[in-house]
Amino acid sequence: MGISILSIESSCDDTSAAVIIDGKVASNIISTQTAHAAYGGVVPELASREHQIHIVPVVDQAIKESGISLSELSAIAFTRGPGLLGSLIVGVSFAKSLSLGLNIPLIDVHHMHAHVMAHFADEPHPPFPFLCLTVSGGHTQIVKVHAADHMEILGQTLDDAAGEAFDKTGKMLGLPYPAGPEIDKLAQKGDHKFDFPIAKIKGLDFSFSGLKTAILYFIRDNKKADADFIENNIEDICASVQETIINTLMQKFLLAAEQEGITHLAIAGGVSANKGLRERLKTECEERNWNYYIPQFQYCRDNAAMIGITGYYKYLKNDFCDLDVKAEARLTF
Ligand code: KG4
Ligand code: ZN
Repeated sequence: MGISILSIESSCDDTSAAVIIDGKVASNIISTQTAHAAYGGVVPELASREHQIHIVPVVDQAIKESGISLSELSAIAFTRGPGLLGSLIVGVSFAKSLSLGLNIPLIDVHHMHAHVMAHFADEPHPPFPFLCLTVSGGHTQIVKVHAADHMEILGQTLDDAAGEAFDKTGKMLGLPYPAGPEIDKLAQKGDHKFDFPIAKIKGLDFSFSGLKTAILYFIRDNKKADADFIENNIEDICASVQETIINTLMQKFLLAAEQEGITHLAIAGGVSANKGLRERLKTECEERNWNYYIPQFQYCRDNAAMIGITGYYKYLKNDFCDLDVKAEARLTF
């Protein structure tokens, strides 16, 4: 019998479970919490309560769809951090109890390593070393991936994450949370008509907090002349903001590739679902004759398949954790 891993992801507002059999995704169930939309952001207390409700049915479904039974599992992988502590604790406690009940090993996984390793759910895998631009709601990182168990951050955001820049812009424009997908859709119908500044940060780091302030003033000033400025220009505003975020990201990502002499570029995380970013990575790489790797949509957002894939590579190295492992909201990379 091969290696079958059940994996659990509960770091934010998605409850997810997956089964990975011999490094291939056999099932990947994601239950997205909708309770937060009314508040314009994730409410931590609500998130952990929702995880409590969904974790058992989500795991049940993942097992059922995989076609194997609990008794055939080789190990349980789970997200240890970073993320919301109350949310993480639900997944960590569940994973510990099940591993104890089934008497199989536990594998702790770093959520940001897993976003990168999502690329190993599909063929072709990027070859080592490669660079990954990981862009999510909480993180923006340029990662040099030496090996499955050896990653190095070359640059990161000094303040807001790229996803946060999308979400905060959306809030100012009156769009529902999370605004990233909505801005993406509207941007496709608009033009880059308005210019926003790109922060000048040394090296390979990013900053998005200035953009947020620039957009706030831009909206305020234009509304003085036209009270319906947002409604009348929503598609062009979205296209302009999105283009600025993509330019900010790609400038540094391409610089990192040149500095490192690495021509295999991957994107990962929730924002890598963005059509504009996917398209841009493709054209920049094609122009240079470089290789690019874009994950399937289901592996961009938070999902347990990426946790299980990372867990599988740790399993191959017998890299297990003890039952006294704790969830860590600020787990170091
Ligand atoms: O990786 P993820 O699902 O969760 C975190 O670990 O944070 O990323 C969520 C982020 C949100 O900020 C959301 O607005 C953004 O990803 N996002 C997008 C798109 N889809 C999701 N941003 C831009 N364009 C999209 N299509
Ligand atoms: Zn994530």
